Amino acid sequence: IPVASFDGVVFGATGDLTMRKLLPALYYRFRDRQIPETSRIIAAARSHHPDSEYREMAQAALRRHVPAADLDPATMEGFLAHITYVAVDGLGDEGWPDLARLLDERPDQVRSYYLATSPNLYGPICRNLSAHGLIGPKSRVVLEKPIGHDLASAKAINDQVGQVFPENQIFRIDHYLGKETVQNLLALRFANTIFERLWNADVIDHVQITVAETVGVEGRGGYYDGSGALRDMLQNHMLQLLCLLAMESPLSLDPDAVRDEKLKVLRALKPIPAHDVPSLTVRGQYVAGAIDGKPVPGYLADLGGETRSLTETFVALKLDLMMPRWAGVPFYLRTGKRLPQKMSEIVVQFRSSPFSIFPPESFAREPNRLVIRLQPEEGIKLEIMTKEPGPGGMRLRATGLDISFEQTFNQRYPDAYERLLMDVVRGNATLFMRRDEVEAAWAWADGVLQAWADRPEPPRPYPAGTWGPTAAIALIERDGRTWHEDI
Ligand code: BG6
Repeated sequence: IPVASFDGVVFGATGDLTMRKLLPALYYRFRDRQIPETSRIIAAARSHHPDSEYREMAQAALRRHVPAADLDPATMEGFLAHITYVAVDGLGDEGWPDLARLLDERPDQVRSYYLATSPNLYGPICRNLSAHGLIGPKSRVVLEKPIGHDLASAKAINDQVGQVFPENQIFRIDHYLGKETVQNLLALRFANTIFERLWNADVIDHVQITVAETVGVEGRGGYYDGSGALRDMLQNHMLQLLCLLAMESPLSLDPDAVRDEKLKVLRALKPIPAHDVPSLTVRGQYVAGAIDGKPVPGYLADLGGETRSLTETFVALKLDLMMPRWAGVPFYLRTGKRLPQKMSEIVVQFRSSPFSIFPPESFAREPNRLVIRLQPEEGIKLEIMTKEPGPGGMRLRATGLDISFEQTFNQRYPDAYERLLMDVVRGNATLFMRRDEVEAAWAWADGVLQAWADRPEPPRPYPAGTWGPTAAIALIERDGRTWHEDI
């Protein structure tokens, strides 16, 4: 279904995010005719380029980031013709009158201002948009993460943006919410009676969330070294996954109904007291190792030969939710760079039954488990006990009831940004973070960050291509549990 005709202004148009994610996403939506012909993409950045030069850059980005089979030359040309470039200085005065002139040609369009820039430009760009009269009732601003690096800086950014845009016109992106499989969590939980009835502390023993990446810091060292895994992945993407998994049923899919429930989860995160931080959290940093048999350098080398950094590239922690539904159910979260495989999954481990008619030797006691695979090989697997075939008696084994989304639906999975960019034009904020959510997540993360800063121990080294420091394994095994490995 086509969206309304719009003017989409992208600030930071020469940057990595625009080239790698936003332009390909817009291209696909154009190719599928969701973007009306009358729409314009206005690329804005500080450097000066004629339209033709920027279009060449955009074309090169598409060739690099979109599979050749999806790049039809006529469609690509049609798409590029919708792009106009303006040189605008986010911090200064330069270029704003040009942008205003362009936008004023069509005052009634839906306008989206995508800030794919460093967060310290969010306030100044918004101020300039307002000063040049570019904000109307059909204008929306899109903020990329990170929104700040702690609660105070997040509040400052939210205040600055909030001075010119009302909250319902602010779209804070967490691209994990745009992933099909993440949205599917809502369907899994609230469209299937069988799971929702079991979704509580009586039946569930614990939950694991793993977001593993094989990449290192890939030239983003400058940003990453000031951030680390907790700020880069856990405070946002992983806590959002936790929210969808743990929240009570919203009253509807209305943006505020969903976000109210997510907010309750974030507010229910039990602060980890400083004296427990060393036992309930593990920080790691990769050193040289190998992934898929190929040697890869360590983090310090990736930073360009630094000799010391206290930044974690891996974090694992155990957390509790102060909600009746989850009383006593631990959540184990881990994420890291340079792990053995790119894989994100949520594992819901059910309790074992208190009594069994089967003698203990008939099976390794494996209670049921639901594995939600977010990427790659998206799908859902329910591990259940079955009898091994054969006359040898009652021998049981855990096997998987396995749904592969690729095989079931046999269609291309749109990238998260495709869905989210179109939602901005539609004005649907369900999959975006509200101010109070972002701040509640920071309020909890700040406690951990502060405790780490107060005892500045170096992160534990782990060789690239392993599952993080051994302390992360001890974190869960101490409780008599193990990280999930596929059966
Ligand atoms: C980003 C982080 O938000 O998410 C990156 O800043 C990370 O460090 C990326 O690599 C992971 O996203 P995805 O979609 O590849 O899982």
